This record gives sequence, structure tokens and C-alpha cells, in this order.
Amino acid sequence: MSILVLGGAGYIGSHTVRELIDAGRDVVVVDNLQTGFRKAIHPLARFYEVDIRNRSALEHVFASEDIEGVIHFAACSQVGESMHDPLKYYDNNLGGTITLLQAMIANGVDKLVFSSTAATYGEPERVPILESDRTEPTNCYGETKLSMEKMMRWVSSAHGLRYIALRYFNACGAHPDGSIGEAHDPETHLVPLILQVPNGQRAKISIFGDDYATKDGTCVRDYIHVTDLAQAHILALDRLLAGGESDVFNLGNGVGFTVKEVIECARRVTGHPIPAEIVPRRAGDPAQLIASSDKAKDVLGWKPQYDDLDTIVSTAWKWHAAHPHGFA
Ligand code: UFG
Repeated sequence: MSILVLGGAGYIGSHTVRELIDAGRDVVVVDNLQTGFRKAIHPLARFYEVDIRNRSALEHVFASEDIEGVIHFAACSQVGESMHDPLKYYDNNLGGTITLLQAMIANGVDKLVFSSTAATYGEPERVPILESDRTEPTNCYGETKLSMEKMMRWVSSAHGLRYIALRYFNACGAHPDGSIGEAHDPETHLVPLILQVPNGQRAKISIFGDDYATKDGTCVRDYIHVTDLAQAHILALDRLLAGGESDVFNLGNGVGFTVKEVIECARRVTGHPIPAEIVPRRAGDPAQLIASSDKAKDVLGWKPQYDDLDTIVSTAWKWHAAHPHGFA
């Protein structure tokens, strides 16, 4: 039997496929290659170039394969873009999930691991954030991910489908062997943007605001290695396969770093001075996002292996230094 990974050509999707295959699982990847890369797809995965909103194409995949569980990464994920083009997010993220759930129900596949986000919380009431805390997204991307979670909850109670939603904090790093890593076009994430400076692609890094109520005035985030995220998906899948109930889990290291600390870390790792300048705040950025991942540790038995920021950034640097243009 196989695991169907939707969005398996993307950043977190491709790392999860890699861990699944390394663990001896049979994997089917579906991706429309809108933001994913053909070269990121594991050679041992069977690949279908399909947009999940296309019900008949998705039906063909379910008919051709023997699927026992689904991991769903296939969604638009740029916060800024979601504010300018909200309907694109409703169409792809909610539309794609409706079609997927319809196909799963029609084909009797009832286990789903879902790629959710800390953006479902919005501005937190307190840190570290618990899964039971208020969810009030401050951007359309987070709103669609929260709506996708809610859709799964209703479908679960109506049709018996079970799901686990994993709310990631700041995914970063790359596979330690340097073969796959982060690549977005356009790139908006802090770590890859910082590493464009030592790679000679950017003169300096901009710091979006230094007047937040944090220890050095710059935003605090909880950075979590992509391989640790990938491992959590496998644990969640195995829990569902063993009969576990629907649930939601935060995934982070539980430690916050400021933007200045991340830049300083990249200076240590790369040996490059990495000039930085303070620019105005970016709209919609909460001052601090730090996860409590105790629930994932207690219930799923999740043990992040990369809890040290220097190690995380080193894996990212290994990838970016060898692949300055990503998968292009
Ligand atoms: N930042 C800069 N300069 C840059 C880029 C980012 O100072 O050039 C700062 C941001 O203001 C933020 C931090 O670096 O404080 C991290 O920014 P990212 O864009 O890397 O990540 P975000 O925290 O904005 O977003 C991440 C994920 C989203 C997810 C969100 C959850 O990328 O998908 O966490 O809040 F929705």
C-alpha cells in the first residue's frame, strides 16, 4: 500500500517524501508544479502532474494506486500574496481541499495528515502558544489554512475520516546531505534571504522593524528544521494508521530567536559579515511566535533532532552554497 503526498515537489513535501522513502514506505506524489520543482521529486516516488482541484485527474490517481493514507501539502503559502490576491488562496487552498476530501470519501481513504501553520493563531495572546489558544488569523493565508482544518473537522464527523493537522512555526534548513532544500520564487523567508548575501546574490539583508517589544526590538520566531517537521508527519500518519483520533499539534522548538540573532548565527556559520539594515515593519508580522510542542512530544512521541540554530542554518547553507539557483 502507498502513501499519497500532495505537494510532494515543494519544500516541506519533498523532505517528507525523502523521510518516508528512507523509512521504506511506498510513495505516490501529486503536484501541479506551480510552486514545486520536478527535480525535488524523489526518483523512487511515482509522480502524477495533477492539480488537486481537477477531480477526474485525482480520481485517476486513486484508481491507479492503492492508497492507505494521504499527506496534504498542496496549497499556496505566501502571506503577502494572500493579502493581494485572497481569491487565489480560497480557490486553491479551500477548492483543492474540497476536491481532495470528495475523492478520499469516494475511494474509501480515511486518513489525512494536513500541513497547517502557526498563522492560524494570528497575534498570540501569550507565548508559548498552545493548540487550545485563540485562533484569529491576521492574514488570508492563515485564514484559509484554519478553514481547511475546520472543513476536515466537519467532514470527519460526517464521514468518519480521521485527520491530524500539524501547525508549523518557522520551517527552515535543508536535508543534511545537501541534496534537497528550500527554493521559492519569489523568496520571502528570512533564512534563505540572509544566505543570498554570502552567496553574492544580495548586497545586504533588510530587517523589518527594530521597534517591537522584544529583547533587541526585532521579531522573535521559533525556527524548526524541515527534517524534524517531516518526521512529525510520519509519526502523525502512523498514529492514524494505528487507529488514532483526529487531532491538532504545534511543531516548533519552543525557543525564540530574534531576526538579529538569526543574522548573527548566519554570520558565524558562513564566515561572511552579512551587512544588515533596518527598514520599516512588514505589515501583519506578530512580534513573537513561539510554539509549545509538548503535545506533539507527549502524544506523537516527536523528538526534534535539530534544536540548535547553528546546525539548522548550517544545513541551509550547505544547500544554498551548492545550489545558488535552487532547483533551476
Ligand atoms: N524578516 C526580515 N527581513 C526579511 C525577511 C523576513 O526581517 O527580509 C523577518 C520577518 O519580519 C519575520 C521573520 O523575519 O519577523 C521571519 O520571517 P519569514 O518571512 O521567514 O517567516 P514568517 O514568520 O513571516 O512566516 C512563517 C511562514 C509562514 C507562516 C508564518 C506563521 O513562512 O508560512 O510563519 O506565522 F504563515
